Amino acid sequence: MTSVFIVGCGDMGKRVAREYLAEGVPVSALVRSLEKGAALESMGIRTVIADLDDPATLTGLPTAGAILLYFAPPPGGGHQDPRVRNLCQAMAPGDEPARTVYMSTSGVYGDCGDNTVTEGSPAIPLTARGKRRLHAESLWREWGAERNVPVIILRVTGIYGPGRLPVSQLTTGQPVLEVGIANLTNRIHADDLTAVCRAAADRGERDQIYNVSDGHPTTMTDYFNAAADFLGLPRPPQVSWEEARQVMSPLMLSYVAESRRMDNRKIREELGVTLRYPTLAEGIRACV
Ligand SMILES: NC(=O)c1ccc[n+]([C@@H]2O[C@H](COP(=O)([O-])OP(=O)(O)OC[C@H]3O[C@@H](n4cnc5c(N)ncnc54)[C@H](OP(=O)(O)O)[C@@H]3O)[C@@H](O)[C@H]2O)c1
Repeated sequence: MTSVFIVGCGDMGKRVAREYLAEGVPVSALVRSLEKGAALESMGIRTVIADLDDPATLTGLPTAGAILLYFAPPPGGGHQDPRVRNLCQAMAPGDEPARTVYMSTSGVYGDCGDNTVTEGSPAIPLTARGKRRLHAESLWREWGAERNVPVIILRVTGIYGPGRLPVSQLTTGQPVLEVGIANLTNRIHADDLTAVCRAAADRGERDQIYNVSDGHPTTMTDYFNAAADFLGLPRPPQVSWEEARQVMSPLMLSYVAESRRMDNRKIREELGVTLRYPTLAEGIRACV
C-alpha cells in the first residue's frame, strides 16, 4: 500500500490514520479549517485545506493511486449528497484512487421490524438522513463503475467507544423508551470499526456492501442504561411512545422509531475481522 487519503478526518478518520501511520504508511487528509489541519499535522498527517461544499477548493488532491477513505457526512437538508458529487467531479481522469471505502449508515435500510438485515435486504430509507446516505452510495457506485475504481460500502450502526458514550444525554436527563416497547438498535465499538475499515481497504471486494455491527442487537434503552451504570450516572427516565413524541429530540425519535436486527456475517467471514467487542457489555467495559 502506497498512501492513504482520508476525506472527513474526524474521530474515525484519526483512529484509522493512527494505525496506518504506526505501520509507516503515509496518510493525508482533507480538512476544512486551518486549526483542525494543524492538529492533524501534529499527528503526522499531511493535510489539504479544502471544503467539500466548495468545488473551487477541491484541487490538487492526493487521490491518484491512494486508498481513499471517505468518512464525511452529507450536509443537512434534502435527499441528496452534493459533497460526494463535488469530490467525484473534482477527480480528473488519471487521478483516480486505487480503491475507495465509503462509510455509510445502516439507516439506509429503514424500519425492518424483527427481520434480520443482511446486505441483500432492500434499502428503503424512511428518513431524509437515510435517503441522503443512499444517494451518496449510488453516486460512489456509479462513479466507481465509470472510472473502474473498486468502491466498498460500509453500512455502519451506532458507533460507541472511549469518548463516544452518551454523556451529555445522560447528564441532562434525556429520556429513553420504556423497556417493553423499545425497538432493536445496533452498535459497533470504535476499535472494531477501525479494524473493519482497515480490512475493507485491504481485502474488501469490488462493489461490495458490508454491514458493520457487533451482531448483538439490543435497545437504545439497554445501551443508555449500560452507559449510565458504567459512568456512575443515574439511569435515564423511561417514557411511553406518546410522551416520547413530545419530549424526545427529532433526531433521537428518528433513531428509536426504527427497528433492525443487523447481521454481521460478511465482516467476520469475508473480511476476516474478529471483533474484540461482540457484545455491549464487553465494549462498555473497554470505554475507559
Ligand atoms: N455516530 C454514529 O454512530 C455513526 C454511525 C454510522 C455512521 N456514521 C458516520 O460515519 C462517519 C465517520 O464518523 P465520525 O464519528 O468520524 O464523524 P466526525 O468525527 O463528525 O467526522 C466527520 C468529518 O467530516 C468532516 N466534514 C464535514 N463536512 C465537511 C466538508 N464540507 N468538507 C470537508 N470535511 C467535512 C468534518 O469536519 P469538521 O471537523 O470541520 O466538521 C469531520 O472532521 C460520518 O459520516 C458519520 O456520520 C456515524
